[in-house]
Amino acid sequence: MEVYHPTAGKPAKGSEIPPVSYLKWYIPRLKEMRPHNLSFSGLQFPWDLDSIDEIWKDHRGPGIDDRRLVSEMYDIPVENVLLCHGATQAINIAISSASRGGKVAVEMPSYGPLSQSARILGLETIVVRRKPTEAAWEIDRDEWKDALSQVDLLMICPQLNPVGWCYTDEDRAWIVQTCRDNDVRIISDEVYSGAIKDWKPFFKEGDNCISLSSLTKIHGLGQIRYGWMIASKEIIQNAENTFHNMAGIMSSPVIRIAERLKPRLNEPVELIEEYRKLNLPVLQETLERLGINWTPPPYGVFGAFKVPGINTMEMIDTIGKEHGLLAVPGCMFDSGLDEWLRVGWSIDHESFCKAVKVLETVLRTAIYIT
Ligand SMILES: Cc1ncc(COP(=O)(O)O)c(C=O)c1O
Repeated sequence: MEVYHPTAGKPAKGSEIPPVSYLKWYIPRLKEMRPHNLSFSGLQFPWDLDSIDEIWKDHRGPGIDDRRLVSEMYDIPVENVLLCHGATQAINIAISSASRGGKVAVEMPSYGPLSQSARILGLETIVVRRKPTEAAWEIDRDEWKDALSQVDLLMICPQLNPVGWCYTDEDRAWIVQTCRDNDVRIISDEVYSGAIKDWKPFFKEGDNCISLSSLTKIHGLGQIRYGWMIASKEIIQNAENTFHNMAGIMSSPVIRIAERLKPRLNEPVELIEEYRKLNLPVLQETLERLGINWTPPPYGVFGAFKVPGINTMEMIDTIGKEHGLLAVPGCMFDSGLDEWLRVGWSIDHESFCKAVKVLETVLRTAIYIT
């Protein structure tokens, strides 16, 4: 049977390089432009940009430091920041610059590049999992303790894709302390965390911790490929060397667009709050009518729930397609999530209400058939 979730294991080169099955499955379906789209894990923000003169020209000049936007966002020196083209590239650069050659523990469920990139960079990976409860997904400390004693690097995504829940405070504190005790560095993908008001980025936990993010999810600007990583000055030096070797320099149009939008970067965060207030109750009522038990995560624009007895990929590819509905099956993120469905509430209220009505029809039909 074909598997779609990310895989762990030995270093991988050439034909052994694992696919990001999620993107292979998702991009063609996104291109179909299905009218009811609940598949987005990022905010769909109605940006309207005037044209920028000579956007293609080199933006560099005396006194210009590209990193200032991010250094001001986090209130840190520019020497702790590396800019790059999206969080996905930051993942690769962070691994290259922080690894000391040992095995890497990778958290599942996951966005494929987060758990698989280390293998392409010549490192072996082992899995640690977060597991469902009624609310926040939790770690199995015995499993994590054993894994963390074998590795020198840990890859995590605190606000977990596809479920949207963060660690409990107790799990987070335990992970930070156990990594400190075992001399493990942490790479934390925080692309979804910017919507959490009192979020404490992992890099604040110590010099062994790296945070990375981008303008893709919270700001709805995935197209421009603007990302960053934050780490100790020593690790950022390694990261700069990696970036120069593997990517060269930042694209000037990307920097110019981000600088133009800088005064407005708070607007999407406010819209997320509005969409949560308007859209979430509609989804909760719908799921209740269907007898599906679900507690939404307290932040962000997506979540996932289990539909017992239903293979959600099959459902989206058949009944979903017929009704023009797109949402993301849980099987893209880990084994054992075949009955889970990820749904986003990141679109305007009117479109959301229409799409959720269709979702109800699709779920009812699937449940009736089985
Ligand atoms: C956890 C996580 N990190 C990163 C990304 C992609 O970020 P970017 O577009 O900045 O590369 C995604 C996209 O789905 C994701 O889920």
